[in-house]
Amino acid sequence: MCGIVGYIGDGNAKDIIIDGLKKLEYRGYDSAGIAVYKDGKLEIRKRRGRIVNLEEAISNEDLQSGLGIGHTRWATHGAPSELNSHPHSNADNTVAVVHNGIIENFAELREWLSKEYGIVFRSETDTEVIAQLIGIYYDGDLLDAVYRAVDKMRGAYAIGVICSKEPDKLIAVRKESPLVIGLGTDCNFIASDIPALLKYVRELYLLENNETAVLTRNAVVIYDAERKSVKRDVLHVTWDAAAAEKEGYDHFMMKEIHEQPKGISETLNRRLTPEGEIVLDGISLTKENLENFNKIYIVACGTAYHAGLVGKFAIEKLARIPVEVDVASEFRYRDPFVDDKTLFIAISQSGETLDTLAALREAKKKGARILSVVNVVGSSVARESDDVFYTWAGPEIAVASTKAYTTQLVCMYLIALYMGRLKGTLSKAECDKYIGELKSIPEKLERILEKEADIEEIAKQLYKTEQVFFIGRGPDSGVSYEGSLKLKEISYINSFAIAAGELKHGTIALIEQGTLVVALATQDRLFEKMLSNIQEVKARGAYVMGIAKEGNTDIEKQSDCVIYIPDCMDEVSPLLAVVPLQLLAYYIAKLRGCDIDKPKNLAKSVTVE
Ligand code: M6R
Repeated sequence: MCGIVGYIGDGNAKDIIIDGLKKLEYRGYDSAGIAVYKDGKLEIRKRRGRIVNLEEAISNEDLQSGLGIGHTRWATHGAPSELNSHPHSNADNTVAVVHNGIIENFAELREWLSKEYGIVFRSETDTEVIAQLIGIYYDGDLLDAVYRAVDKMRGAYAIGVICSKEPDKLIAVRKESPLVIGLGTDCNFIASDIPALLKYVRELYLLENNETAVLTRNAVVIYDAERKSVKRDVLHVTWDAAAAEKEGYDHFMMKEIHEQPKGISETLNRRLTPEGEIVLDGISLTKENLENFNKIYIVACGTAYHAGLVGKFAIEKLARIPVEVDVASEFRYRDPFVDDKTLFIAISQSGETLDTLAALREAKKKGARILSVVNVVGSSVARESDDVFYTWAGPEIAVASTKAYTTQLVCMYLIALYMGRLKGTLSKAECDKYIGELKSIPEKLERILEKEADIEEIAKQLYKTEQVFFIGRGPDSGVSYEGSLKLKEISYINSFAIAAGELKHGTIALIEQGTLVVALATQDRLFEKMLSNIQEVKARGAYVMGIAKEGNTDIEKQSDCVIYIPDCMDEVSPLLAVVPLQLLAYYIAKLRGCDIDKPKNLAKSVTVE
């Protein structure tokens, strides 16, 4: 959500920034802009829409400069217009600012700046307030002006600042919103995410909350909130820049769907000994801890929340501990029953989702033990947790989450199995059986991917539909929610997921001739019940696409088409059942001509409330 790139050095800031912003496109945005220092002035250019619009607009301009900041904006305060795009500047255009996040007291500050200083605002944004504040406080010391401005601001933000009166520096501030600093030779960078910088640097500093960094061509100094300089370890990024490229696939989403077998193996390998024992290195969950917990909350948003729904089934079944799953934006405002007997599990791909982070803090404040399941190493959720279980999916670029979901599921199974063994609710033999099943998933998943062409054919018949229902029972109901979300977020089809048994309590009224129903029937013990639910919708004219395990061919009698997944234990079937749904959503979206990797109105990482 919004992207920042800044550069200071001997290179051409404009090209480096545009290139970096393109790497951040996955975060979601609706306008882009850049400010560079040139001939004693700040030159600011902005365009609505895609970065290429901006690139084209400035392609013939001589904006050669060694200092600049750029931004992709996802509108919050004010419409997605050129005027509201970043960078924003102060009254005399000597200070330019790019900003991610929200300044909560911006209305108050705006009024104050107008009344006290006669500032006339040019945009509707909260960001312009920052530029104007720095402008009025500037008295020959940019760092001082930034500190004084920050002192007035409430909210969550990451900002980049340049000033035409001090063209030898680039200043960055972080509060809640992520910001990394790239360390080059005779140049330094800022960015809101690592992929933006990988072409240029592999050594990074991760800025912590309430820290300010002053970047010059040859140095980076980080200061804390009291303006004391702080030491920071260098993070060396080992993953390849290619991990954030499409590698021949049409879309990141498809590439990431295909990366799932590898991601799952990696997640398993990190936590299993060659003998199949689960090792939770760095996670200090003891038998006593577990006995102390009387409940577990799993809290997350979107796809991660759906992984939590399946996690609940796994933990309750294998470790016999009551689990509540909550969406993070609700959890924090409902005064939940949390104390030191609560284990709070946060699930997040990015580790920067503001609602999840806020819920985590709320739980921590009340004494809960925090375990997080996170993909991005060193992210805020990871850093603020007592224990972290990384998903090792590799960078996920497409807005629609796929490999993060399946690796999150693997983590939830491993946590459930580990707890079950620790508590004694699961025998070694049973645990071994589950581990064996998990290890067989990557190969089974490859077999589903081989059916891609069949799913594309089904999509060709269905892509014009305007309403879809996903139904399932037990763990399949969690997968239904995920299938429905995938479809609606990338194809913009109105889709709805519901526990199959709940259908008849109201929603079935919407089923009519030709309504598409995707029915997940992968649970052996619930298979017959599902067949009855399928019959109920068939009787009302629905067109049914069934998902079942190989061998359960009875479903063909009630369905219009069926995709089979390889046989597996009921508990782990979500790992397989979700894949045809990801592919279905992908092909339907493609046939409808949608922007698959960057769906409208969405952002990869939602860092605002
Ligand atoms: O980074 P997180 O896992 O915390 O993100 C949570 C949701 O915003 C995310 O899963 C979202 O629902 C995805 N776009 C779904 O594909």
